[in-house]
Amino acid sequence: VLARARTFTIEGLRARAVTVEVDIRPGLPAFTIVGLADTAVREARERVHAAVLNSGYEFPARRITANLAPADLPKSGPGFDLAIACGVLAASGQLPTERLSTHALFGELSLDGEVRACKGTLAVAEATLKAELAKLVLSSSSVREASLVGGLPLGGVRYLAGAARVLSGGEPDPPPEPVPQARGRTRSRQLDLRDVHGQPRAIEALAIAAAGAHNTLLSGSPGTGKTMLAQRIPSILPPLSPNEAIEVMRIQSVTGTSGGGTLPRERPFRSPHHSITSAGLIGGAKHQGIGEVVLAHNGVLFLDELSEFSRSALEGLRQPLEDGRVSISRAARSAVYPARFMMVAATNPCPCGYAGVERRCRCTKADLIRYRRRLSGPLLDRVDLLVTMEHAPHGRRQDESPLNSAGIRERVIEARQRQARRLSHERVPLNAYMDVATLYRHAKLDERGEQTMARARERGLLSARGEDRVLRVALTVADLEGSARIEQRHLAKAISLRLDPAV
Ligand SMILES: Nc1ncnc2c1ncn2[C@@H]1O[C@H](COP(=O)(O)OP(=O)(O)OP(=O)(O)O)[C@@H](O)[C@H]1O
Ligand SMILES: [Mg+2]
Repeated sequence: VLARARTFTIEGLRARAVTVEVDIRPGLPAFTIVGLADTAVREARERVHAAVLNSGYEFPARRITANLAPADLPKSGPGFDLAIACGVLAASGQLPTERLSTHALFGELSLDGEVRACKGTLAVAEATLKAELAKLVLSSSSVREASLVGGLPLGGVRYLAGAARVLSGGEPDPPPEPVPQARGRTRSRQLDLRDVHGQPRAIEALAIAAAGAHNTLLSGSPGTGKTMLAQRIPSILPPLSPNEAIEVMRIQSVTGTSGGGTLPRERPFRSPHHSITSAGLIGGAKHQGIGEVVLAHNGVLFLDELSEFSRSALEGLRQPLEDGRVSISRAARSAVYPARFMMVAATNPCPCGYAGVERRCRCTKADLIRYRRRLSGPLLDRVDLLVTMEHAPHGRRQDESPLNSAGIRERVIEARQRQARRLSHERVPLNAYMDVATLYRHAKLDERGEQTMARARERGLLSARGEDRVLRVALTVADLEGSARIEQRHLAKAISLRLDPAV
């Protein structure tokens, strides 16, 4: 007897169709699963066996083979349990077969027959809709997440018996009461720039960075507040657009970090420790091979203590910084992931940390050169803004008019809207993503501007690449001020935030 059930496996961020064929024939009792399955899939044997018995069905004492097709597609995770169990029930005549070919099944089974949520629900729901299947049967606790894909009939069930009921034409279980989820920090409890004393220049620079999504390097001695400022960048970023939120959700769904099936509103902020491996940062290790650069998609990747990161990890940032995506090869297959993020890095200016501060720096000239060379290369080529941090003056706490995040965020949002309008006919929505041709179409300087640039060039302050960066940033400064063109003061500001050509 043969039954076929339909399910999916997750590859990269997408779900790929898998057919579970269950064959039952006379012979010594055995239960085998074949078809490029990983450990979690092979362990489905034990779970399915117990779940079928504990749900009050019979487990046929014959030779049972479950084949996961196509055979060349690697299958991973416990999401096949439900399809295998239903296949066994159908092949042994305990379940009508007709709906098996039109219903997708996705879920892990517990030993007592409970259907559990699995990673990648959103991708599976999208793929079910695309495959034009009639219904997706899954854990009722996943219904919220799956329903983000509009127009797909869902059969949320709590137990294997519920799935059997839906496959016999019955009703699904009601979804569980939504638990009020605290999704990360709510906006009111987010770290706020209000806590930072002084530092108006650095805060202004961060506003520019946030407005244009410019990659930024914070440089300064220990204790100047680099980490403190960087951690507050999320508070001045605009919320995710609906499209961006779905992209982030897809990633969180596959990595099992999505909370309760509600769309995220805030941009991801990832701050991996500097001991992270290249596989952890770029991808290939855990989480379906998804690295920090992908988890930071549509948000911020903060590299604190930049000079401590391994050379190979930093080298790997080149592709995502250039293309906004990253391709990862695993088990002879490769997948492309989105990885468009704003990079923020913090570093001391020299090995001892005190270069430029009075006479405290103990580094030799050779130390400095070595240090700068370590930081240079592919990474700094993609940094638009250099923020040099100094100690904030003490004791001016009360009388200062505080800059707070909400006010800055308003300006950032307006500046982004202005960019989106200007770039509506280009492929990119933000100043930082413009290639050189796009940049020169949009960043026109008047005569005085040209003269300023020429002077900076003559004085050796700007390289050709530095000039492009200055223009990009100047455009963002103008956007922040609501100016349609780049004025002299915008340019001057951008030049003051340029990356030192010697770095
Ligand atoms: N402008 C400031 N306003 C309020 N507190 C500050 C300010 N600058 C520094 N601090 C205080 O100093 C502490 C150290 O700052 P932070 O960790 O951000 O320094 P850092 O520049 O990252 O130093 P390091 O190079 O050692 O990593 C902060 O936790 C904060 O309490
Ligand atoms: Mg720090």
